[in-house]
Amino acid sequence: MTLIEWEEGRHLVGVDEMDSVHQEFTLIVNRLGETQDPSIFKSLFIQLLEHTQEHFALEDQLMEETGFRGFDEHREEHERVLKQMHYINEKVQAGNLDFGRAFVEDLPRWFDLHADTMDNALAVHLKAAPEADSFAV
Ligand SMILES: [Fe+2]
Ligand SMILES: [Fe+2]
Repeated sequence: MTLIEWEEGRHLVGVDEMDSVHQEFTLIVNRLGETQDPSIFKSLFIQLLEHTQEHFALEDQLMEETGFRGFDEHREEHERVLKQMHYINEKVQAGNLDFGRAFVEDLPRWFDLHADTMDNALAVHLKAAPEADSFAV
């Protein structure tokens, strides 16, 4: 099942490194939604966790280096999601795939809201600060 239908008008924030990370995130989530194979699901879940760590670290770095005012709130939201993802990953790796499936099915709702609010606010800030380009990873 395709969980996230990528829509440029809705999902693009206009900062290349954020957009490509979000497209990769969408790809992994959709692979998780599509596979029926438990061992593939387990390895994709680890991939999702590692990718999300990099995704959030990139945004945290951009926020810190450009003095984004919403940094604390946005970083706390990243920490909350990662903590939950770690917890669910332990369940998945122990063979409780239903926890993983329920979590993954909720991700599109979280992603739509997060991209539209916190990530979009960060992108607006980065686009208004051209020197932010020099901080790109
Ligand atoms: Fe993001
Ligand atoms: Fe974010």
